[in-house]
Amino acid sequence: MLQGKKIRIRALEEADIEGIYNWYNDQEFNLWASGAWPLNTLKSKEELAEKLLDQLDGGHRYAVLSEDLAVIGTIGFRDLNIAARSAVIYVNIGPREYWGKGYGTEALMIFVKYLFYQWNFHRLSLDTWDGNNRAIRAYKKVGFKIEGRQREAYYILGEYHDAVLMGMLKHEFQLLHKEQCLHNSKE
Ligand SMILES: CC(C)(COP(=O)(O)OP(=O)(O)OC[C@H]1O[C@@H](n2cnc3c(N)ncnc32)[C@H](O)[C@@H]1OP(=O)(O)O)[C@@H](O)C(=O)NCCC(=O)NCCS
Repeated sequence: MLQGKKIRIRALEEADIEGIYNWYNDQEFNLWASGAWPLNTLKSKEELAEKLLDQLDGGHRYAVLSEDLAVIGTIGFRDLNIAARSAVIYVNIGPREYWGKGYGTEALMIFVKYLFYQWNFHRLSLDTWDGNNRAIRAYKKVGFKIEGRQREAYYILGEYHDAVLMGMLKHEFQLLHKEQCLHNSKE
């Protein structure tokens, strides 16, 4: 279990699927998370459980918990490149009442630190679409930089949008968050 001030992160469990199902099929959540509007998938609980728990695609997925230990999000990484020590990560906070309150940013901060130190990653990247300003702002706060854009890679509500590609190297994280990293080296 990884612990922050407001959030905790632990491995996903079967009992989490019921709650996750509700926001996975929430239209607005899908708009922000993947630019899908209207919904392009409506997964059954079984399909969702298979995707999230079996991790057949090589992804590593975890649950984000709030102060009262409710599951409010998922976070994880995929596309490991072992030689380059890199991976693609993602974070999603599901219930709308938890958006814009720092839960996602804190989860990302704790998770990125875990990946740089415990997994010894050298580089982490993530992406979103150019209308998701809250996500871009959250990623920048943790230390991710915009590295490029894929022009008009999304079609959302009748308009094309760019994909925004962001990345961070371990030494950049260390420089930005010196205190946290110092603390880590004493653990
Ligand atoms: C994107 C997400 C992870 C961000 O986490 P969060 O904890 O909600 O973000 P924060 O509360 O730290 O807010 C981040 C910044 O965005 C700003 N913000 C909040 N709501 C905003 C909005 N509706 N529009 C623009 N900016 C917004 C905040 O003010 C904050 O900036 P500041 O610290 O400079 O004031 C989370 O909101 C989420 O999962 N949303 C739904 C799905 C999604 O978008 N997933 C991302 C997939 S790419």
